[in-house]
Amino acid sequence: MQQETKDLLPHEIELVQQGWARISGGSQSYVQEVYDELFRLDPTLQPLFTDDRDHLMTKMADTLNTLLTSLEALDRLAFIIRDIGRRHLQHGARPPPLHYP
Ligand code: HEM
Repeated sequence: MQQETKDLLPHEIELVQQGWARISGGSQSYVQEVYDELFRLDPTLQPLFTDDRDHLMTKMADTLNTLLTSLEALDRLAFIIRDIGRRHLQHGARPPPLHYP
């Protein structure tokens, strides 16, 4: 069967997860920084965001936490990632190079 995601090497997983533990550190303030930076880079994105900001930040933090603490099983999370992509398209987000690097 064709693999859905590219496997990360164990030391790559460790590096990403160490970095993630430092960034998240039990608080969600980094999510605010992500949005601040996104709107600084492209203020025209603001109208795409209509949901309650606290609710959105909690959802983003939960999603990132689920994905980044499960990197060993990324293939099994492919359905979640595909779903997020589909919902982002519905919200008006567009694939690289427009809204993502
Ligand atoms: C690591 C990158 C990102 C993650 C993990 C992420 C995650 C999320 C999550 C969990 C939601 C909540 C709704 C849902 O579950 O579908 C959401 C909403 C949204 N995201 Fe992202 N996102 C990312 C990057 C971006 C970027 C670069 C854009 C740029 C356009 C974007 C645009 C949006 C929009 C427009 C919404 C809907 C907001 C609303 O209804 O107020 N996202 N994102």
